[in-house]
Amino acid sequence: MTLRAIDVYKEFASPGGSLHVLSGVDLAVEPGETVAIVGESGSGKSTLLSLLAGLDAPTRGVIEIEGEDLAALDESELAKLRARKLGIVFQQFHLMSGLTALENVSLPLELRYEADAEARARSALAQVGLEARADHLPSHLSGGECQRVALARALVVEPALLLADEPSGSLDEKTGDAVNALLFDLVARRKTSLILVTHSERLADACDRRLRLAGGKLVPC
Ligand SMILES: Nc1ncnc2c1ncn2[C@@H]1O[C@H](COP(=O)(O)OP(=O)(O)OP(=O)(O)O)[C@@H](O)[C@H]1O
Ligand SMILES: [Mg+2]
Repeated sequence: MTLRAIDVYKEFASPGGSLHVLSGVDLAVEPGETVAIVGESGSGKSTLLSLLAGLDAPTRGVIEIEGEDLAALDESELAKLRARKLGIVFQQFHLMSGLTALENVSLPLELRYEADAEARARSALAQVGLEARADHLPSHLSGGECQRVALARALVVEPALLLADEPSGSLDEKTGDAVNALLFDLVARRKTSLILVTHSERLADACDRRLRLAGGKLVPC
């Protein structure tokens, strides 16, 4: 899907005065394009992803998904747009603590009233190597396993745009490589647009384009 960010600013109020995290971010992502965003810790990468997902509003500037200005949508319209079109892998996973791995993955399908939610969720869990952990609560999963559940949950709906914040950040190299291979395979097969925040040079190189967030702006790198 197409995504546009035009001259986006984000400030946070802080005790020492306002904190200017983003100051004039421009970004255009075409259908099926994969874009890596790198940048130092604290440079605003997660903040930018939450704006692109419509989870927070920019201080100024415009964000459009398929030509639709997110500022024109109310909370329930934003929630519908996310459910229909976006997959999000958060840095902190945000799994539902009272639901099992399987229930976490099937939830987005159930919210869309899709058929075979449980079977599809099982297959998504199997793809990330977690079929044997389907009935575990997040508190009984390792950090890397939670990350894989979060990835399965984001991909199970076959989103048009996947926003992923360090999706292999807490995995060992072998599991991380397997999860990344799966991610790129699914993205290529379904022509999903991908915005991938990563500290890994290798992962960034696997994307069509690399951008660096520095000084509140995105620049090619
Ligand atoms: N809700 C908030 N209120 C105040 N400051 C915030 C808020 N969210 C983020 N910040 C600040 O904005 C800056 C950017 O944070 P962000 O989480 O986007 O960085 P990041 O690039 O994702 O870093 P990392 O690589 O460590 O994940 C940080 O200095 C952070 O303290
Ligand atoms: Mg972050």
